[in-house]
Amino acid sequence: MSSIYESNKILAEYLLFHYGTAEEILPPDRIWPPGMREALDFPVRTSAHFSPGIVERGLDLGCAVGRSTFEMSRTCREVIGIDFSHAFIHAAEALGNGQPLAYDRREEAFVVTTLEARMPKEIDGARARFQQGDAMNLMTSFGAFDRVHAANLLCRLSEPERLLENLPSLVKSGGELVLATPCTWLEEFTPSVNWPMNSTFEWLLSTLTPAFSLLRRADEPFLIRETARKFQWTTSLVTVWRRHD
Ligand SMILES: C[S@@+](CC[C@H](N)C(=O)[O-])C[C@H]1O[C@@H](n2cnc3c(N)ncnc32)[C@H](O)[C@@H]1O
Repeated sequence: MSSIYESNKILAEYLLFHYGTAEEILPPDRIWPPGMREALDFPVRTSAHFSPGIVERGLDLGCAVGRSTFEMSRTCREVIGIDFSHAFIHAAEALGNGQPLAYDRREEAFVVTTLEARMPKEIDGARARFQQGDAMNLMTSFGAFDRVHAANLLCRLSEPERLLENLPSLVKSGGELVLATPCTWLEEFTPSVNWPMNSTFEWLLSTLTPAFSLLRRADEPFLIRETARKFQWTTSLVTVWRRHD
């Protein structure tokens, strides 16, 4: 499995991606192309795809540094965030305990600006807990959840089919699943024998429909700032599903 998500560079990029303000990501002293602002707050937007209402249990797979897990905790009494990266899980746990985390936003070469990430003020950190783990091989003791969220995870797994096969047992009857994927299949993460044969959407539809109904699909852009002048600007395909009774 790739270890890129253990590096300080990627940790800092994800702290900025999940917790940076608009001014920190797109400083107002520059003119930014139209659309970049709309790509901010991705973890807030994907977790807002669940139906309104309060539920008991949520699961956030591939949670990274935890922003979507905290967002889910607004409407789930208990949420578990799972990520394979120890560095990401340590950061999410620290933030959940109310600790601010200093990190460097890279401008270019050796030039950095030190910023601070914090859990959003109105979140109750006690509702969210984090655990290092493998989304393809989850402990059966987790049980089933009312809501399962997995953003930009599928095409980072070596065997994504294994996660899809487990989803019917992870989501309670009547529960909801939000999957987001930019469909960026890369040999570095997923051997090409495990890529979908057709479009990712068709693959999801044929694999999930026996147990789930598709409620809707949407496109959600996201922006990851690497330096002052280099961004990953991508669109994720979001699908929302309900587990059959
Ligand atoms: C592209 S990032 C997306 C993170 C976050 N959901 C977001 O949308 O910002 C992929 C995440 O999946 C995690 N990951 C990769 N393989 C995993 C696995 N087998 N089990 C759990 N998490 C995994 C990585 O550590 C990383 O945090």
